[in-house]
Amino acid sequence: MALQRALLYSFFIISISIISSYSCSQEDPLNNYLEEQASGYDSQAYPSYIEDGGFKDLIKLRSDVLVLQTFSKEGSKSTPVITVGVRDFGVKDDGGDDTDDTETFERAWKEACSSPEGAIIVVPEYTYRLKPIRFQGPCKSNIALQVHGTIEASCNQSDYKKDSRHWLLFDSVDNLLVEGGGTIDGNGKIWWENSCKVNKSLPCKEAPTAVTFFECQNLIVKDLKIQNAQQMHVTFKKSNHVLVSNLTVISPEESPNTDGIHITKTQNIQITDSVIGTGDDCISIVSGSHNVQATGITCGPGHGISIGSLGAHDSKDHVSGVTVKGAKLSGTANGVRIKTWQGGSGNVSNIKFQNIEMNKVTNPIIIDQNYCDQDKPCKQQKSALQVKNVMYKNIKGTSASEVAMRFDCSKAYPCQGILLQDINLERAGDRTAKALCNNVKLATLGVVYPKCS
Ligand SMILES: *[C@@H]1O[C@H](CO)[C@@H](O)[C@H](O)[C@H]1NC(C)=O
Ligand SMILES: *[C@@H]1O[C@H](CO)[C@@H](O)[C@H](O)[C@H]1NC(C)=O
Ligand SMILES: *[C@@H]1O[C@H](CO)[C@@H](O)[C@H](O)[C@H]1NC(C)=O
Ligand SMILES: *[C@@H]1O[C@H](CO)[C@@H](O)[C@H](O)[C@H]1NC(C)=O
Repeated sequence: MALQRALLYSFFIISISIISSYSCSQEDPLNNYLEEQASGYDSQAYPSYIEDGGFKDLIKLRSDVLVLQTFSKEGSKSTPVITVGVRDFGVKDDGGDDTDDTETFERAWKEACSSPEGAIIVVPEYTYRLKPIRFQGPCKSNIALQVHGTIEASCNQSDYKKDSRHWLLFDSVDNLLVEGGGTIDGNGKIWWENSCKVNKSLPCKEAPTAVTFFECQNLIVKDLKIQNAQQMHVTFKKSNHVLVSNLTVISPEESPNTDGIHITKTQNIQITDSVIGTGDDCISIVSGSHNVQATGITCGPGHGISIGSLGAHDSKDHVSGVTVKGAKLSGTANGVRIKTWQGGSGNVSNIKFQNIEMNKVTNPIIIDQNYCDQDKPCKQQKSALQVKNVMYKNIKGTSASEVAMRFDCSKAYPCQGILLQDINLERAGDRTAKALCNNVKLATLGVVYPKCS
């Protein structure tokens, strides 16, 4: 009982002094990464991949964000605790449908955001229920949000009338750290049941993204479980300098459009050591995203790791500098995929998929320039996005379908600078695997299986 009370009262804000220095002597994994970049790639064959410096900006991310890494730890050790008062906030721990903690969180955010010293918001180990909420920036200083408990979404759909696209929205918040080992639960069942992808007799409507970071600079999101999103789980939009690590993102395989991590118009983002299994892409990277690095990703079930779709409705889209290095995909519909619609324009360039293990993946390697996710067939069009400089290196495992490697590129804009190195994709169950290669200029290094027929 005493412990419970203590926890209840620990919904506090601590003011802290800003940590202005950080250790420069630490090993810099991104520097290593760049060196390796230079030696591991055939710069003769693909000079533009190196020359455009597509990855160099990642270095910036580190120094900018590192200050944040220690923000909550140092703060909690050395600074006074300001108890905001959980009773005032009316937080209950039963998580029943009648509880609503939205105002509680709004007030905590307001106080934290206006604190000139920065603030740590602690969410103790209880279950909270929130309606859609906007954590609005800019704030006066750094903010850490430590979620130890469980935050659940309201399942009353009329709560989402004002903004049906977002549940937890961080808007224009710079220098933000979200962590804490807790759980964020979108309570998505009601949304899935009412999705036109599940029930064809219903009209297609958008559902909320569980967690959105919009126009956030210098952001760390780590050590959280995010589950059962209404639609997508976590979206980074128009954000810059982002570190994501140790997330567990899960939803049932049959939940519609529940992408794990969605990246749009975002630069310099690194995702590490995360486990993602949902009803849609584990990671999807769309237009305007540059310098995206994903390492240590476990993916499945779901649709795999995707760049795109791009070029829908004849749009002009660009994605460049994406590295997926160290991933394990199991039972997914795709492994590493690039998908573009006919009729679009722009470029997908400087993409690297490396050290990837596939386990019964239906389309382990796929570039689909004839992507068409609509009821009526898409007509032939002359324009297309240019896909160029894509490296596949050390990709092994099993394909659940006959075609383990599919390059279905555009006739007018063939895929260029595709490099396959050390690929071994067997067909699960002892039969031979195939590669399908249309309109693709590719080079191979080492042993590559299957080969284009
Ligand atoms: C849902 O919310 C609306 C108003 O926001 C309210 O009138 C209605 O009673 C709520 N429904 C349930 C089941 O709580
Ligand atoms: C699909 O939606 C219709 C219209 O709301 C409803 O009558 C039907 O029961 C739903 N079907 C399922 C399987 O939920
Ligand atoms: C990763 O996050 C989980 C909570 O989702 C936490 O329990 C665990 O300790 C974290 N792991 C590390 C290495 O920090
Ligand atoms: C990208 O594609 C467009 C055509 O859609 C082209 O004009 C432009 O030069 C390309 N940019 C790069 C960096 O390759």
